[in-house]
Amino acid sequence: MGFEKNILCIGAGYVGGPTMAMIAYKCPQYKVLVVDIDKDKIKAWNSASLPIFEPGLDEIVTKSRGRNLFFSTEIEKGIEESEIIFVSVNTPTKTFGQGAGRAADLQYWEKTAREILAHSKDSKVVVEKSTLPVRTASAMERILNENSAGMHFEVVSNPEFLAEGTAIRDLENPDRVLIGSRETPEGIKARKAVAEIYLNWVPKKKIIESNVWSSELSKLTANAFLAQRISSINSISALCEKTEADVDEVANAIGMDSRIGPKFLKSSVGFGGSCFKKDILNLVYICESYGLDKAARYWESVVEINDWQQNRFVQNMLSNMFNTVAGKRIAIFGFAFKADTGDTRESPAIYVAQGLLEEHAEVVITDPKALENAKKDLKPFKQGVTFQADPYKAAKGAHAVAVLTEWDVYRTLDYKRIFNSMVQPAFLFDGRNILDHKKLFDMGFNVFAIGKAPLKHF
Ligand code: UDX
Ligand code: ADP
Repeated sequence: MGFEKNILCIGAGYVGGPTMAMIAYKCPQYKVLVVDIDKDKIKAWNSASLPIFEPGLDEIVTKSRGRNLFFSTEIEKGIEESEIIFVSVNTPTKTFGQGAGRAADLQYWEKTAREILAHSKDSKVVVEKSTLPVRTASAMERILNENSAGMHFEVVSNPEFLAEGTAIRDLENPDRVLIGSRETPEGIKARKAVAEIYLNWVPKKKIIESNVWSSELSKLTANAFLAQRISSINSISALCEKTEADVDEVANAIGMDSRIGPKFLKSSVGFGGSCFKKDILNLVYICESYGLDKAARYWESVVEINDWQQNRFVQNMLSNMFNTVAGKRIAIFGFAFKADTGDTRESPAIYVAQGLLEEHAEVVITDPKALENAKKDLKPFKQGVTFQADPYKAAKGAHAVAVLTEWDVYRTLDYKRIFNSMVQPAFLFDGRNILDHKKLFDMGFNVFAIGKAPLKHF
């Protein structure tokens, strides 16, 4: 059977994999090929055990794989046969040279653009799916259109707003789909070609078209605003701990103001994930490079508050456990950066575990999905850390339990059983405010929650 369109996605990660699986699932008339340089990852995408955990992903991959969804390492062939190429390769923070620690490292993107150019035989639309600095499209166009074969490449920005853990829901029913292009006839045509894909399941009114620079900058800005809300409420959590105000009550009260809204006001040990910190630092770097120092400092403070919040959590554990955790067993409940994912990139749990290990605590990590990643993250620590799938076993003989990921499973554990198996006095630090603190206190725990007065028996 011939397909109406051949779509390629370069990069089979957390964004490329689920996004293309959704396109293939909703559009059986298109052939969707996802390629990656990582052979093991592609092998996993072609197996029963997908390389990422995402609720609902298995089902849509199984329905489309082999029908119109394909995973392969044959990048060259993929480029040659596709008319629309999504690029979803990683854009980590630069670790060297100018802008180190802040600017986006565009080497993978540029390498991909050169590969597209080398293996194309005709004109194509190239879609930026990865989050990129504003004005990247201009550099990419220059590389791609520097050819003598008469081929024309139109670079379109179509940032992905999915959040991990809810990726399938977000892809199926997005708040909006943003498509930016040059405002030339070719640019508008390319933008429409991308919109046509989404129109297979997304209502027209949710598809926004804009100029390419607005689209690139909107993605960075959306992440910066979301992170800013978390840092704002986290800064208030510190004040709540001093004043006996309760941060959840404050969040509830302000969130009912329709101008503020209730989402992203959950105080926590800090935000993690591959996007927020990276994108804000990138925004800071871009502001600085245009001489906008005030704006740069403003956004930088969002990351500083997040670092401070994680540090405060560790300091709070230390000071309440009689200023020493050396030799004490501490169970960390949850290592993923949020619930419903196995991803641990920039997880606050990494920072907290490191802080405790540096204080010579015996750290036991438990998590329903992220233990393999946790092992990689804590590899530099040869001693003091163990991994345990069963939370009851992790807590047995511990002086303290610290909840760092809001997994549902931790809400319903038998905490009386856990309390009885721990060293007394038993401490519980709730970094996500998901537990019933009064009940735990009545059981005998000394309870310390973010943005709440401590509940101690001494
Ligand atoms: C984010 C954006 O939400 C998404 O639109 C973008 O495409 C990618 O970056 P993601 O990082 O997957 O998605 O997860 P998100 O749900 O935004 O959570 C990020 C971090 O903030 C997590 O560590 C989460 O636990 C934390 N968080 C979130 C809070 O601490 N409090 C909140 O109220 C919300
Ligand atoms: P994201 O969260 O943005 O999806 P990931 O790191 O999960 O980021 O995925 C990016 C993917 O891009 C990785 O699987 C990586 O192997 C792949 N990749 C990087 N460079 C190239 C390239 N030149 N060609 C093909 N795939 C690439």
